[in-house]
Amino acid sequence: MNYFKRDSLTLCAALLVAALLTAFISPVTASLRAADLPGPAREAIFHPVYARNGMVVSEEKHATEAGLNVLKEGGNAVDAAVTVGFVLAVTFPRAGNIGGGGFMLVRMAEKGEAVAIDYREKAPLAVTARTFLDEDGNVDTEKSRYSVLSAGVPGTVAGLALALEKYGTIPLERAMRPAIELAENGFPVSEGLAASLNDARLRMEKEPESMRVFFKEGGEAYAPGEILVQKDLAETLKLISENGSNAFYEGEIAVKIARFMKERGGLITEKDLEEYSAALREPVRGTYRGYEIYSMPPPSSGGVHLIEMLNVLEGFPLGEYGHNTARTINLMAEAMKFAYADRSEHLGDPDFKKVPVEALTSKEYAEKLRKRMSPGRVTPSVLVKPGKMPPGEGRNTTHFSVVDSAGNMVSNTYTLNFDYGSKITVPGTGILLNNEMDDFSMKPGEPNAYGLLGGQANAPEPEKRMLSSMTPTVVLKDGEPFLATGSPGGSLIITTVLQIITNVIDFGMNISEATNAPRVHHQWLPDKLRVERGISGDTLRLLTERGYTIDTSNTMGSAQSIMKKGEFLYGASDPRRPGGLAEGY
Ligand code: DON
Repeated sequence: MNYFKRDSLTLCAALLVAALLTAFISPVTASLRAADLPGPAREAIFHPVYARNGMVVSEEKHATEAGLNVLKEGGNAVDAAVTVGFVLAVTFPRAGNIGGGGFMLVRMAEKGEAVAIDYREKAPLAVTARTFLDEDGNVDTEKSRYSVLSAGVPGTVAGLALALEKYGTIPLERAMRPAIELAENGFPVSEGLAASLNDARLRMEKEPESMRVFFKEGGEAYAPGEILVQKDLAETLKLISENGSNAFYEGEIAVKIARFMKERGGLITEKDLEEYSAALREPVRGTYRGYEIYSMPPPSSGGVHLIEMLNVLEGFPLGEYGHNTARTINLMAEAMKFAYADRSEHLGDPDFKKVPVEALTSKEYAEKLRKRMSPGRVTPSVLVKPGKMPPGEGRNTTHFSVVDSAGNMVSNTYTLNFDYGSKITVPGTGILLNNEMDDFSMKPGEPNAYGLLGGQANAPEPEKRMLSSMTPTVVLKDGEPFLATGSPGGSLIITTVLQIITNVIDFGMNISEATNAPRVHHQWLPDKLRVERGISGDTLRLLTERGYTIDTSNTMGSAQSIMKKGEFLYGASDPRRPGGLAEGY
């Protein structure tokens, strides 16, 4: 930075390179000119989108635009978020959904109130410990990932309706209008949608209804730019818009879901749907170097372990050690191992087993963990055990963030689990069913699709919510909005959110730099340090010498964040998954 200040010629060259890089790497920011940017952003390599009043960041442009229109009309952040949630169910069907579930973190400015809306799916009443085991007692992943049994009772409609009722200002009919129009009249298929449907095709071919909805007659794929119309989904959305969430849980739609389940040997009944409700929960809270963190409590593991890791890292001067240096990555990886080991033992649905949230997120516990760490030290994962507590994640998900002019903040992550969930569409409804049941721990020692281990706390039980890693988070500074963030990525979600936060707080990055910077991940088991491309070879050599097994992986996560600094909101949609849009006004 100082170097830039000293040499204006170099500054111009750097800005030119930055503009070119930005144009290639992050198309959403390409229209910005460096000279337009407020003060500090001019020195940045990657420029965030900025605005003064309100902003929406999501993985799909129709969704961002629909949310932004609501803000411009005077709706608040929750109104816009509910609109985005329903639009993504139409335009981003690999993860946007009404047949899945998720979490919304809301922070209302006026009352200073933060709340977590839990609309995670629940296990059907008829589930047993053996539902997903074969005759020999082994986990049958066909059942837990690709059959009608893999679906939990969907929570999205209940969750979005509850958010709007409690914190919104517009009628459900207005919030759902853009989604209905896009389903009814269609929208041009993006490159990303075409590619993801191509990937899902083999599985979908076993499901005639999914083929009928997502492919042309005769099974031809939609090419980018062709119009995808979803008439059944439009009808389903209209019923919900006219009659509220009851239409989904008690009316015609519930009957169709239950009938289909019965025909196919699934478990979800009309009673399961009728008994489903979304829950309002207290967010988990923590502090990190003077910032206040609010994140998702159980049945997500995200918030608890985000705060656990931040507490551990707070004891080390990461800013001084440098971003993505061997010393910093070493400390982060060790903190991550402790957190994921604890996850395997202690986390589950709090309505079934008390989760030691306070202990895990306490500064004292972090101090104990820190005593086992020092820069340069690497503990093999076999020697890391879950901490003793006092009694008492090609797969897909999507995140969006909204901040309005009053300073209300929404951070929402929701999912079908895999791309297009189980790939099964309920006939006549346009509803894709999730395969979230795979997030339960089916058998001790057996990892789920994300390699995550678990125990009794996360064993399948009737009406229990399966443990999640989704980590919608808001951060405040001196009681004022600072950051709304979150990401998809299965087990990688928690560490992605961690690095967004450390990148802005410890390393002074703007939100685009923080989003674009290469990420690392360790989840205790397997004992591997995953790194994205872009971390220097020298750093990787030092880490290997210290004992890490390095796995250079595909990209990790897709953060969708808004940061407030001074009078401006800055947004970044992760370039790792192109097609997203950060837009403000
Ligand atoms: O709730 C969870 O943790 C997982 N079902 C999330 C899956 C996911 O993020 C896949 N995304 N890329």
